[in-house]
Amino acid sequence: MKISFQVNGKQAELQVPGDTTLLGALREHLGVYSVKHGCETGECGACTVLLDGAPVNACVMLAAQAHGRSLQTVESLGEHPELGWRTTAGLHPLQQAFVATGAIQCGFCTPAMILAALALLRRQPNPSEVEVRQALSGVLCRCTGYLKPVQAILRAAAVLRGEAVEPIDGRIPAPPDLFAGPEAEAPTLPAAGPELATRTSVMPQIRVAPETEGWQSVGKPEVKVDALKLAQGKPAFAADLEMRGMLVAKVLHSPHAHARIRSIDVSEARALPGVAAVLTWPDLPRVVYSTAGQSDPIPGPLDTFSLDSKLRFVGDRVALVAAETEQIAEEALRLIQVEYEPLPAVLDPGQAMAEGAPRIHDEPEYVNFAESDPTRNLAAEIRVDIGDVERGFQEADLVVEGTYAVPKVQQTSIEPHVVITYWDEDDRLVIRTSTQVPFHVRRQLAPVLGLPLKRIRVIKPRIGGGFGGKQEVLIEDVAAHLTIATGRPVRFEYTRAEEFGASRSRHPMRFRMKTGLLRDGTITANEMHCLSDTGAYGCHALTVAGNTGHKSMALYVGDGAYRKSPNIRFHADVVYTNTPPSGAYRGYGVPQGFWAVERHMETIARQLGLDPIAFRLKNAVRAGELQPFSTSWSEGREPRPETIHTCGLEECAQQGAAAIGWAGKYSDPQWHQIKGSPHLRRGIGVALVMQGTAIPYLDMGGASLKINEDGSFNLLVGATDLGTGSDTVLAQQAAEVLGVPLEDILIYSSDTDFTPFDKGAYASSTTYISGAAVVKAAEQVAERIRIRAVRMLAKEPGDPVLPEQIRLAERRAWAPDGRSVSLSEVALNALHHEDQEQIMGVGSYVSPVAPPPFAAQFAQVVVDVQTGAVTVEQLVMAVDSGIIVNPLTASGQIEGGMTQALGYAVCEEMVYDQDGRPRELDFRDYHIFAAQEMPDLQTLFVETFEPSHPFGVKAVAEIPMDGVAPAVGNAVLDACGAAVNEAPITPERLWRALRDGQRTAEQERDPAQP
Ligand code: FES
Ligand code: FES
Repeated sequence: MKISFQVNGKQAELQVPGDTTLLGALREHLGVYSVKHGCETGECGACTVLLDGAPVNACVMLAAQAHGRSLQTVESLGEHPELGWRTTAGLHPLQQAFVATGAIQCGFCTPAMILAALALLRRQPNPSEVEVRQALSGVLCRCTGYLKPVQAILRAAAVLRGEAVEPIDGRIPAPPDLFAGPEAEAPTLPAAGPELATRTSVMPQIRVAPETEGWQSVGKPEVKVDALKLAQGKPAFAADLEMRGMLVAKVLHSPHAHARIRSIDVSEARALPGVAAVLTWPDLPRVVYSTAGQSDPIPGPLDTFSLDSKLRFVGDRVALVAAETEQIAEEALRLIQVEYEPLPAVLDPGQAMAEGAPRIHDEPEYVNFAESDPTRNLAAEIRVDIGDVERGFQEADLVVEGTYAVPKVQQTSIEPHVVITYWDEDDRLVIRTSTQVPFHVRRQLAPVLGLPLKRIRVIKPRIGGGFGGKQEVLIEDVAAHLTIATGRPVRFEYTRAEEFGASRSRHPMRFRMKTGLLRDGTITANEMHCLSDTGAYGCHALTVAGNTGHKSMALYVGDGAYRKSPNIRFHADVVYTNTPPSGAYRGYGVPQGFWAVERHMETIARQLGLDPIAFRLKNAVRAGELQPFSTSWSEGREPRPETIHTCGLEECAQQGAAAIGWAGKYSDPQWHQIKGSPHLRRGIGVALVMQGTAIPYLDMGGASLKINEDGSFNLLVGATDLGTGSDTVLAQQAAEVLGVPLEDILIYSSDTDFTPFDKGAYASSTTYISGAAVVKAAEQVAERIRIRAVRMLAKEPGDPVLPEQIRLAERRAWAPDGRSVSLSEVALNALHHEDQEQIMGVGSYVSPVAPPPFAAQFAQVVVDVQTGAVTVEQLVMAVDSGIIVNPLTASGQIEGGMTQALGYAVCEEMVYDQDGRPRELDFRDYHIFAAQEMPDLQTLFVETFEPSHPFGVKAVAEIPMDGVAPAVGNAVLDACGAAVNEAPITPERLWRALRDGQRTAEQERDPAQP
């Protein structure tokens, strides 16, 4: 068809097949890359464009439907504020507000959000927050929790109305009365003055650590270094690249949960015009590997092949196709004839290890790790016994037991997995991929592809969210095999249905808890048995389950003598089933564990009649004590004892309680009632949690830094910013050491050819591990600058100075007497004038410790006791993550993490039918929170200075995943007395619990009742 329409004021003419979507036309024919692909069903909103001024989803419109009409995308808005000699109008106020407020994390949804907001502000220049949230309701964001985007839009609206807006700077210290105890008043911000009708509340409250006094960059709400390009919709992501002759890849997936391929005939598919390659299992070398992106040696079994003759879940790979277009590739898949031999499948983890259960891995190449045993469908086994658990139970006044369960849930980054592969001019294979682990991709794929590692280059562009889902070498091999087969560039991108059906997810787990207690609430022994379901392959099987115990069971050590010598048991079996593989998901096993531990602690506190916060703090681990698991377990490696140096848990509990008004609510029966609505009850709940920071003695980060003639610096890191802002906080640390503004640090991440090694983005390690590497590199550079500055200053009148007396600040090197040289002068001197050298530094860092961040999570809910519906009204999280390098990005992590965890609490769940077919294949069936559904979110930071890091930081990214679900569960219990021990708390589960609870009460009154 010949179609024409206007795009951003310019006429576009194109000749496309009639079934071309508007999204396909814009991206593939017109190179409009700000319009993103996040699904194919009109549910995520990433493809939003304005059609004659109204937002529409380009993925569910045909290009022909736009014929004769006018389209607007974010490319039409604003420009970089500095473009050399050409004067520009700068960014549009909406873009500017998104940049300034920290509303952009991965930025994949940002163009769509800005366009939705633009349409709103054109018809309603003074919108309410509710109207803004409604306008954003069609754009899903998995990163931000929507708080900052909503604030950004309100701020931009004010600017467009000509009103003044407050600057976003300075940290908001927590008022001192927050430390007066749980009775203290909730903090309130001063009311907006008449000149500031719109106040932008995006900064968290922080109890500022004194060590940060005088710092210039670390601790400041600096603008994210990639925010500008993301606000403009520049082609920054993996799929935003068109190459001449590029093929499209597709995969044929198994329709059976467990089957063998008897025969496979691809002759018709290969003969289809436009098909470049069809690959099946006999075409590829048989190399066993693990898709888990982890350091060498992989701490888990090797049990996966790129293609195999045996299929182990619905969605497993059968064949790979590369063709000229997506439509041809899909047609080729339909032409592949496969004869399957279905095998008995095991779908329930409880039955996986039973006598006679179907064996999922019988391939001779299987490589065991630790206790894995494929003859029993056992991917990993963990047995940790600390102290004398049996004696602890004998000494207890009472023992409380309970069972708990958590579901399989998915990361659902809005950018799907996507990769482009090609041979470069040296016949080296280039893999441009949306990954969290570029160096692991290179190392792990080399044997699979039959290439030496040095002939592979992995480029990681901007990432549209990962959350652990891209800590997997999941699809890179597909495109790479097809490039090897065809010699041509290949693009492979998952559909949303493939994301749900053939990607990774959080391990579902079942727990048995048993806790011994004295009457005063002292824990004498604590035991957890965990059954974890790794699905068809053992990716992250051992390490995820290990972290479940390592963090959640380490929090409560007991009190008195038990505190000195805790009794803790953690036993886990990780089993194979014929379901899609589990893997890494933000929190990495810890949210599962804390659901069980914190629901259990609530049960105990209520049974003993103790204040739930005081009971928890009485037994919680404290600064100066050993991380109890550090003596017994370390990801399958030699454990080494580790002391916890900083713990702000008590202050977190106090601050969080004050912020949510715990004291005035928890024990007030009136507060729990809602006047005029007898079917509604209010409740409030708490959970205390801890995480870790990096993996000690194993994971390494590297950085290199060099000076340029203008005194700017190139910082190269292998670390992987997947939207979290890690590039920004790494650059801030370099800027602080070198005494320059952040804009003088040009950070690049990551490319295995150019940037130093880094293990990648996982285990909450980048700010801490890669940050320490950056500081080391920056200190080497600073030292050379000081030495040169001394030499240069010696030519001027004044007392001689020593290098260690030179202070770097304001882009200059200062002597104590006030003389100074600029860094640009130092650089010119070093590069051009005398005794020339390239001033540069290289740093790397492996930590001997994994200092835990701590947090207190609070939730307030309303329960409808007739329907079982739960409405979460408010989430407050007070966090000790050490020093906060950037309050905007850090609070963005907490807000986004709490939002993901809220789905874990009340609605997210992946379910399979009796044949192992998934129920959830799109965002209609798998519900993630949208802007208009959000509760009030509040973040507070309690800074502690972690002595093992030069800037005192600890991790922030994962801990917000840990406490929301149990806090909501505890709030539901508080509201209506129903204990829902299986997450998520769906209306049906709560309704059943309420009904069962009523029946129990009735049966107690009248035991004759059935
Ligand atoms: S890509 Fe169009 S709505 Fe998801
Ligand atoms: S910032 Fe919205 S999806 Fe990442």
